[in-house]
Amino acid sequence: MNRLSSVFSKFLFATLLLPPSFAAGRRAETAPDTEVRLVVEADLGDATISRHVFGHFAEHLGRCIYGGFWIQDASGKWRFNDKVIEALKRIKVPNLRWPGGCFADYYHWQDGIGPAEKRPKMVNAVWGGVTEDNSFGTHEYLELVERLGAEPFIVGNVGSGTVKEMADWWEYVNHPGGSTLAELRRQNGREQPWRVSIWGVGNESWGCGGQMSPDYYVDLFKRYSTFLRPVSETRPFLVAVGPSDERYEWTEVLMRDAGRFFQALDLHYYSLTGTWSNKGKATEFTEAEWFELMQKALRMDELITRHSTIMDRYDPGKRVALLVGEWGTWHEVEPGTNPGFLYQQNALRDALVAALHLDIFIKHADRVRMANIAQTVNVLQAMILTRDEDVIVTPTYHVFDLYKVHQEATMLPIVLKTSPYRYGDQELPAVSASASRDKNGKIHLTLSNIDPNQGRQVKVELRGASGSRVSGQILTASVMNAHNTFENPDTVRPAPFTGARFDGQNLMIDLPSKSVVALEIE
Ligand code: AHR
Repeated sequence: MNRLSSVFSKFLFATLLLPPSFAAGRRAETAPDTEVRLVVEADLGDATISRHVFGHFAEHLGRCIYGGFWIQDASGKWRFNDKVIEALKRIKVPNLRWPGGCFADYYHWQDGIGPAEKRPKMVNAVWGGVTEDNSFGTHEYLELVERLGAEPFIVGNVGSGTVKEMADWWEYVNHPGGSTLAELRRQNGREQPWRVSIWGVGNESWGCGGQMSPDYYVDLFKRYSTFLRPVSETRPFLVAVGPSDERYEWTEVLMRDAGRFFQALDLHYYSLTGTWSNKGKATEFTEAEWFELMQKALRMDELITRHSTIMDRYDPGKRVALLVGEWGTWHEVEPGTNPGFLYQQNALRDALVAALHLDIFIKHADRVRMANIAQTVNVLQAMILTRDEDVIVTPTYHVFDLYKVHQEATMLPIVLKTSPYRYGDQELPAVSASASRDKNGKIHLTLSNIDPNQGRQVKVELRGASGSRVSGQILTASVMNAHNTFENPDTVRPAPFTGARFDGQNLMIDLPSKSVVALEIE
């Protein structure tokens, strides 16, 4: 992270102190606390925004795999839902974490290879107690990621598996030939190895992955990972189980005792209203709950900062990535659905939460180099909801679509002075933003306003560039809980944005309440 960006974070939420030149001329039309200033250092920036921070997660949970990606035709034969794949290709999914989540530590990969009719059935004890027929296994997952144009990210079983089982899986997918497992892969229809590099060693081992202490997990991590040897051209990118929330001791012990052995540490954090045992609803909520969810989402910034500070002590060169392997909103399940399936709707509010997270990840681009929203289809903060073969995309999907321009672009330093969004006696920064320069020299600016009541007038000073043309799209709706349904699939969708114009050197943006705007500047 360059020096400027750390200065920016200090300014992220500052009371406006506008120089007379800015205040003059607009004071008559706008209340002072709707004015926002943004400086974009358009000719600076040395960090690349990894496409992997826009990653996704697919677990054998509810209708994510079965009934989501993988559907049955009338004769009972399983196949991919091409509509899901096509929709996900449009947002340029860079990686897909699989098979869990908690399920990863119950999963035995050998059950999911070979002729489908011979694969053993198991009970998915962690998610709904349903039968898992293993018809979707390693080959199907790796075909899926190939069709998406994404990178695979496999999470191995530490909780109920063995060192040999994990090492065999690694060899099965990566060994070019000359081994019994590579031969088995060939017999099962795949000649070439897939070259899977990103490899999780367990999931949430402090919880559903085995209720371990950090010291116990450190020893297991070292033991399991020792046997994941580079194969031919594939070197393991090892992902160690990381902390959740403010579990700082976990980060400390992992970095101190094993930091030199892994490439990434996997932080998990979900945003919810109420409590874990009494969560708020996805589409029926008050402004108090809107505010609460935004506050929870913004906590991601503090968590990354604090965990990174610990990591900095052991890894000042930032070799190890902080990977946010699970994030997103977690609401009460939709009425009438299996509580173990975690099926929830997705409203404009979730879209704002997604934008806040992506801005936070981009701001921490030097340490956060990968992230996975939970979960892609039909589970938690999904991109896509399905009914049989039909799909609708969610407001969150549209945010990923608007933000895809930042993938592999150069992060541009910004200084944002935003007025607050006030609710009762509390306040949050109203506006959040990210800026990048793509390989063609175009500048992309994404902004969001979490205030559901008032728009903001944003004055952007583009330093080091002289833009003259701006075009853009906006994602908003008239009500906070607007969402898409199978009956009305386009209630929340991007529309052309006409609220930005150049005024001399400055770009003036009328940013409506509860909106996400993406601008392209030439
Ligand atoms: O995403 C749902 C669950 O949340 C995952 O299985 C687990 O890792 C986390 O607790």
